[in-house]
Amino acid sequence: MDWVGRGNSRMKNVLVTGGAGFIGSNFIHHLLARTPVQRVVNLDALTYAGTPANLAEVQNDTRYRFVHADICDGEKVQALLREEHVDTIVHFAADTHVDRSIRDPETFYQTNVLGTLRLLEAARAVWAGDYTGKRFHHISTDEVYGTLEPGDPPFSESTPYIPRSPYAASKAAADHLVRSFFHTYGLPVTLSNCSNNYGPRQYPEKFIPLVIQRCLRGERIPIYGDGRQIRDWIYVEDHCCGILRILQDGRPGETYHLGGGNQPTNLEIANLICDLMDRKRPQSAQVPHRRLLQFITDRPGHDRRYAMDCTKIERELGWTPQIHLAEGLEQTVDWYLDHPEWLEAVIQAEPYRAWMHEQYPGEG
Ligand code: NAD
Ligand code: DAU
Repeated sequence: MDWVGRGNSRMKNVLVTGGAGFIGSNFIHHLLARTPVQRVVNLDALTYAGTPANLAEVQNDTRYRFVHADICDGEKVQALLREEHVDTIVHFAADTHVDRSIRDPETFYQTNVLGTLRLLEAARAVWAGDYTGKRFHHISTDEVYGTLEPGDPPFSESTPYIPRSPYAASKAAADHLVRSFFHTYGLPVTLSNCSNNYGPRQYPEKFIPLVIQRCLRGERIPIYGDGRQIRDWIYVEDHCCGILRILQDGRPGETYHLGGGNQPTNLEIANLICDLMDRKRPQSAQVPHRRLLQFITDRPGHDRRYAMDCTKIERELGWTPQIHLAEGLEQTVDWYLDHPEWLEAVIQAEPYRAWMHEQYPGEG
């Protein structure tokens, strides 16, 4: 098969926004290692969630360039699109943590809604109606659909949007803007809505790396509410493969779901990690790590369950997730155990300490 599928995206010069974050950095590694891409420009504002060390292995790759900038700076984005002859934009940049959005919704509106609009406007201005070989791919989330009860069918691409957190509402607004640019201006957009990612380089405010780092430090592992909330967990590498398939062969104007195809409760995830830690660190004074689990006050408006119907991308593009949850969790735990300097640098930095203090008061 040709690298470029149905003549959609040329994928020679790719702009990745938010590439210093978790999924964006994994995607850049994936692009450079597995595709014939000529240029990868990473535009990132380096908020607390952006970690330059995530790209340390590629910083001397002549195909790679880092640009410290904000997606809200439309003029700078336009200049960059022109200078680098960008044909493909993969838009990850966002504020992403639901708990932070509950404390500070306006930042989420600014980055996720206004930032996406500025990026769309920049692409429209620079591409100026010549859309041959161009693509604007927008990364979205399952959270735009709201919440499911235990027996409900999974979300499909036609499920109505009922976002319930400020984060989800801002992502929903961004999705609507992206679609509006397809219908109104013909901008060649695609969207993917993905479930919960896990894997290397995830900022440890999120549940899975938080559990791992609390195990390592022998600190309490906070479980919101009854711990029976259900997520669909996808290994980040599977997400990256799915995005590439959409860039290659996805149809402009279309949305594709990506998910891991599992339904564990948060408590089950925490127990699996604790058991892995018992096995990997049998001499640790924390064994059994399960005794670190502690139920705490629930997240306001906490969505009970997410589940994704991914039959569209399976049928149209032949994508299915390859990494089973048990295997992916073990690889993730191994990555954090093998990169203590990465974890230490992040958790000792002021933004992380301040957040832990604010979100989990009464500790240390
Ligand atoms: P992350 O929080 O790890 O990283 C976000 C990155 O965006 C950081 O590098 C940050 O510096 C950058 N950024 C923030 N504001 C910016 C701005 N104004 N201009 C430029 N850069 C900015 O996020 P992630 O978990 O990697 O998520 C990436 C994308 O995937 C987001 O759009 C998110 O909504 C979506 N998503 C995430 C998940 C998940 O489970 N993590 C699941 C589905 C979809
Ligand atoms: O579903 C996709 C979404 O997944 C992405 O769009 C978001 O950007 C990403 O942050 C993630 O959102 P969640 O809120 O599902 O992820 P988080 O890691 O914050 O929480 C996962 C589950 O664990 C959720 O039910 C809340 C729970 N939790 C989380 C934390 C941080 C706890 O029980 N305790 C905690 O301390």
